[in-house]
Amino acid sequence: MYSQELYLRPNVVFEPLVDRWYAWSHLISPATAAMNIAHRHLKIMQSFVTAAQVHVAAVANPKMLGGPFISHGSERVPEIQALISQTKHDRAQMIAFAEAIQQLDDLLRTRADGHSLEPLYESVPELLRGYVELVYDLNDHPSFRLIEPLLYHSPYYDASAQSMMLSLISEDERPFVLSTPRLDSDTNVHVHLPFESQTIDDLFAMKRTPRTFPWIKERLGLSDGDDALFRSFLTEETPPSYVAYTGEGVRWRYFGHACILVETKQNNILTDPVLSYTFASQIPRYGYEDLPDAIDYVLITHNHQDHIMFETILQLRHRIKCAVVPRSSGGALQDPSLKLLLRRIGFANVIELDELETISAGDVTITGLPFLGEHADLDIRSKLAYLVRLGRHSLLFAADSCNIEPKLYQWVERVVGEVDVLFLGMECEGAPLSWIYGPLITRRVQRTMDQSRRLSGSDYKKGIDIVRRFNCKQVYVYAMGQEPWLNYIMSKKYAQDSGPIIESNALLADCAAHGIVAERLFGEKEILLP
Ligand SMILES: [Fe+2]
Ligand SMILES: [Fe+2]
Repeated sequence: MYSQELYLRPNVVFEPLVDRWYAWSHLISPATAAMNIAHRHLKIMQSFVTAAQVHVAAVANPKMLGGPFISHGSERVPEIQALISQTKHDRAQMIAFAEAIQQLDDLLRTRADGHSLEPLYESVPELLRGYVELVYDLNDHPSFRLIEPLLYHSPYYDASAQSMMLSLISEDERPFVLSTPRLDSDTNVHVHLPFESQTIDDLFAMKRTPRTFPWIKERLGLSDGDDALFRSFLTEETPPSYVAYTGEGVRWRYFGHACILVETKQNNILTDPVLSYTFASQIPRYGYEDLPDAIDYVLITHNHQDHIMFETILQLRHRIKCAVVPRSSGGALQDPSLKLLLRRIGFANVIELDELETISAGDVTITGLPFLGEHADLDIRSKLAYLVRLGRHSLLFAADSCNIEPKLYQWVERVVGEVDVLFLGMECEGAPLSWIYGPLITRRVQRTMDQSRRLSGSDYKKGIDIVRRFNCKQVYVYAMGQEPWLNYIMSKKYAQDSGPIIESNALLADCAAHGIVAERLFGEKEILLP
């Protein structure tokens, strides 16, 4: 057994964790992590310990999907209690950092009255001194910016909080992950490794390149007690080999949600990587085995959990030659830099793109286009649509862009011209402001404000305006969170009378009536452009 070369099974689930919580960007960047530990994790866990039966009932109620409820039974209260104690002990500095942010906000609210901010520096909480600059906008509204690169070199970035959980999956159903810390079980192997560790690359390279059991066991630092379970994650079965596109045109394949692989003979591009694992299923889909060994460009449209998914991109890191991300505003708490974050967790080559900036290589050019809305009116810049030109073809990946100001596309079209193929998300009934950003806000958010400021994408009227403006020949509605393998992160279950389905149906019908090829993508799709 020990000398046999083995592959990693295609249905091994990899869950990157921070403090045992499912990793997403705001748990990795230091300031947002502090706020989430203090104002999300500890609160949810405390609530569970106080009233576990409320959580059990809420998790069983489909209407409460995606809410702040832990999906463990009440028998696990002692383990959650222990995790609270451990978090308070191990992350005391982060909790203090979150308190300092609260104090700084209070300071600015009470003492920044339009006069010089310089005298306030001595009142900045000690933990934040040297890490913030105090600023006004032109209307004397005070704020602060974090010197974010320094925070990654401070005690507030602690990679020892990172780990990963491995298990097997044979169906799409997974419990919603963003509200529940992962606990040990006899079906999981918990590995304590920082995300930057090259061992993660070694492990996932085993989907293509076989290694012996002792070789990977030693790298992962597994104990003998995990031998039997971890051995079940490996197989002697050779995976199918990948067949690259060799035609003269363009092949694109839809992998689910906003994840699309675009290939020419020379180049390939993967957008917003989110992949299903591979197991027998009624719903056909592409998976990891349908990706090339080397991915030239990964394009990340924006910093929402369903578009920058660490579970997927860390598994692909060893194959990614270049990650392209939107430029952040540089230091706003709500807008952490994706470049800093990805570099810190081991992505060697990350390019930050700005609006109307272009990169070119061989037969491909990639241009960042403005992406308005879908962020509850917060000043968040790390969002871009990507216009990809391959020879004579142009494809626009607009993700969750919300056409709140149609004039924008009038000006953009004057610069970039018409677009052949549009990919547009139409999740037009998005979550309220507090769903993602609540833990970052240090004052009470009025319910009516919270409900009015949403993470909503384009509806029919907004979408069709983009189609007409660019004179698109093909339109694909995507990024709807409809694939069942996304339920664990999206908390979406659509019916025929759901707003996004009605609105996107109207868009498809309008396109069809005007001779435009149009489809709402689901599962898998392949299109060849000559
Ligand atoms: Fe989004
Ligand atoms: Fe989305």
